[in-house]
Amino acid sequence: MPRLLFVCLGNICRSPTAAGVFAALAAKDGLAVEVESAGTLGHHAGDGADPRTVRHAHARGYDLSAHRARQLRAADFAAFDRILAMDEANLTELRRLCPPAHEGKLRLLLADTPDAGGREVPDPYDGGPEGFERVLDLVEAASRRLVAELRRS
Ligand code: 4NP
Repeated sequence: MPRLLFVCLGNICRSPTAAGVFAALAAKDGLAVEVESAGTLGHHAGDGADPRTVRHAHARGYDLSAHRARQLRAADFAAFDRILAMDEANLTELRRLCPPAHEGKLRLLLADTPDAGGREVPDPYDGGPEGFERVLDLVEAASRRLVAELRRS
């Protein structure tokens, strides 16, 4: 079973959304996967997802209410098959921490979704509601592509 880890900065907005959306679309497709998310920052560890993230996701049918934030840990690099960063800063931090043997697992979530309209999932934390909708749009596009890819392999 493929194990995927979604990574952002705080683990309260983007990566919980990506994990929740991807898990839901994989389940709908009958694809067995193991999914988690983590933040490069430990500041919000133990917190639920941002209330705005929960609300916007819920409006599209995704339940993120059980999420609890955690910081990325060294063991994650061995434990997961794919480690997907939301933006370039997350990817830089992952590369800094990752043992060379696992570097091939690191990737931008949107790297293989050229039609998404960008390579990064922008941080919505300090912005308005449109930022949270944009996160969902990008993450849904990437998740659909990822489910199709995993189904083929
Ligand atoms: P996320 O958003 O990385 O998408 O979870 C953020 C949440 C909190 C902070 C930064 C980004 N923060 O600095 O507290």
